[in-house]
Amino acid sequence: MSDKQLAAQAAADLIPTGACVGLGTGSTADCFIEALARRVQQDNLMVTVVASSVISQINAERAGLSIVGLDTLNRLDVYVDGADEIDPDLTVLKGRGQDLVKEKLLAKAAKEFWIIADAGKQVGFLGENFPIAVEVMPYSLKLARQKLADLDVKAELRKQPDGGNVFITSAGNLVLDVRLPSSDAGLWARRLALVPGVVEHGIFHQLVNRALLASGGDLRTLYPEAETFAANSTDDGSTDGD
Ligand code: 5RP
Repeated sequence: MSDKQLAAQAAADLIPTGACVGLGTGSTADCFIEALARRVQQDNLMVTVVASSVISQINAERAGLSIVGLDTLNRLDVYVDGADEIDPDLTVLKGRGQDLVKEKLLAKAAKEFWIIADAGKQVGFLGENFPIAVEVMPYSLKLARQKLADLDVKAELRKQPDGGNVFITSAGNLVLDVRLPSSDAGLWARRLALVPGVVEHGIFHQLVNRALLASGGDLRTLYPEAETFAANSTDDGSTDGD
């Protein structure tokens, strides 16, 4: 079993019967879809799932999972997804794919957001290995670029992997891959959200409840410091994680 499969299996083993489960996107999320489907078949686990992408929806359908539409949801128990980078505070970077908008939506909506990954995704600070994805409405590209330049942020319009046409997300937007001038992920999560035309960005700050990380066949579970959520709580107990 690979480390991705190990982390995915550990997450699937924690899903209680009756749960509504959000499915992430990517190779680790695919392992989770397979592991969850095995639990449904072997353990008679009863779950409904909602997908963050067309690819995950197709994979879930193939695996025989019971899928509901995102627009029908009024509650989501847990969202399970991979990540591109995980910092020591369990702020994570996502957005190398096309489905950032739905991924962030599900991470915010879920009562619990679990990250599954091989431990190689851990970094000292967000942006260490990858630029930060900033998804912008196409007609706001110039406004967004200027505001980012004013903030001393270097931005590059993402192209297709062959370097030809621009990259279009599943929500029909463009992506600016940005390099931040400092490493305070919480600060930049708030600042990037205020840039005109920004639909979403790849910093998932104060959202992760649990990270299941595997390395060389060993699994570790990390939890955020209690104050990560407490500091961000409002009077009604909700959080404003972005
Ligand atoms: C897609 C993502 C993926 O979850 C992230 O890229 C991890 O992918 P993989 O599990 O294939 O390493 O954020 O937007």
